[in-house]
Amino acid sequence: SASEKGGWSSFMAKEVSEQPDAVANTIRGRIHDGAVAVPELTAFGDDALAAIRRITIIGCGTAAYAGIVAKYAIEKWAGIPVEVELSHEFRYRDPVITDDTLVISISQSGETMDTLMAVKFAGERGAKTLSICNTQGATIPRESDAVIYTHAGPEVAVASTKAFVAQITALYLFGLHLARVRASLSAEEIAVELHELEGIPEKLATVLRTGEIIRQLAHWMSDTRAVLFLGRHVGFPVALEGALKLKELAYIHAEGFAAGELKHGPIALIEPGQPVFVIVPSPRHSALLHAKVVSNIQEIRARGARIIAIAEQGDAAVLPFADEVIPIPLAAPLFEPILAVVPLQIFAMELATAKGLDVDQPRNLAKSVTVE
Ligand code: G6P
Repeated sequence: SASEKGGWSSFMAKEVSEQPDAVANTIRGRIHDGAVAVPELTAFGDDALAAIRRITIIGCGTAAYAGIVAKYAIEKWAGIPVEVELSHEFRYRDPVITDDTLVISISQSGETMDTLMAVKFAGERGAKTLSICNTQGATIPRESDAVIYTHAGPEVAVASTKAFVAQITALYLFGLHLARVRASLSAEEIAVELHELEGIPEKLATVLRTGEIIRQLAHWMSDTRAVLFLGRHVGFPVALEGALKLKELAYIHAEGFAAGELKHGPIALIEPGQPVFVIVPSPRHSALLHAKVVSNIQEIRARGARIIAIAEQGDAAVLPFADEVIPIPLAAPLFEPILAVVPLQIFAMELATAKGLDVDQPRNLAKSVTVE
């Protein structure tokens, strides 16, 4: 009903707008005086956590993409190899699972059957299991050794938005907790990252204010047939998520690629007028990566692509080559995905709206897939 949507035109619009709170509520109570303590992780004991030698993250859809983002952070902070696998692929092969393997499942609903079966499988093979879940008391957390709940609040729209940013937040808290018990980062280094995380809700509120530019863009592009998304480093999973949102909501053929793969195939898709979203890494963090992505933009622009750049505010290098620039606030590199994904969510939602589609209930999809 209209009152449940709190004055918004759709649950999705409401949930997109709730993302600053989703992050803030997921952090709440887990940071004290610049130190992280996720009480739920005491279920393992610090010694067992410190002894973990490998992590496998599993999930489906948007949850799996949150896992790819977290891989970059957990490996950097905790120095443990992390692989990310789709739940349904993990289960039907013979993955290497030892008792020093931690399997982290990510699921908004906590009921996705493929993920549930993969968690049971991992547990039977002797892995420790941790669930990242948004639904209190759901089946997946009950089947896991420990759970870190995301506090995004109920997500009703089929396409996941606020759960994604909350999942990344929870996984970052986990990664920093792990870095503390393993002493792979100093207390000062951890405090710097936590401070960055605590600043994200306000930056998300800033990104939400660019909604109008994106709305216009989506309306101009309402007859677009195909859209490409390019990203690099943590921008790569953001590209995958941007493409997924567009498929789910606007029924447009969309693909996300790692920008470095461009010359290995995707560049053949570029023809005059082809819209390409490019998630540009900050030049402040890696001049090299930034330059490589700007050069990708030039290559595809020369072949007629229409570039929509998601770039850090003040990044002047992209301006001459981009048809549109959507600015995001300055953030440390690992935190950029939480901000950069928002314009892509809004774009998909607005394009679907421009096409007259139901953004909360896209055709053929279910909020939670409880069958295999
Ligand atoms: C469905 C939904 C997606 C979601 C995926 C995983 O496909 O439409 O939005 O990302 O399931 O759901 P989960 O509840 O496990 O996070």
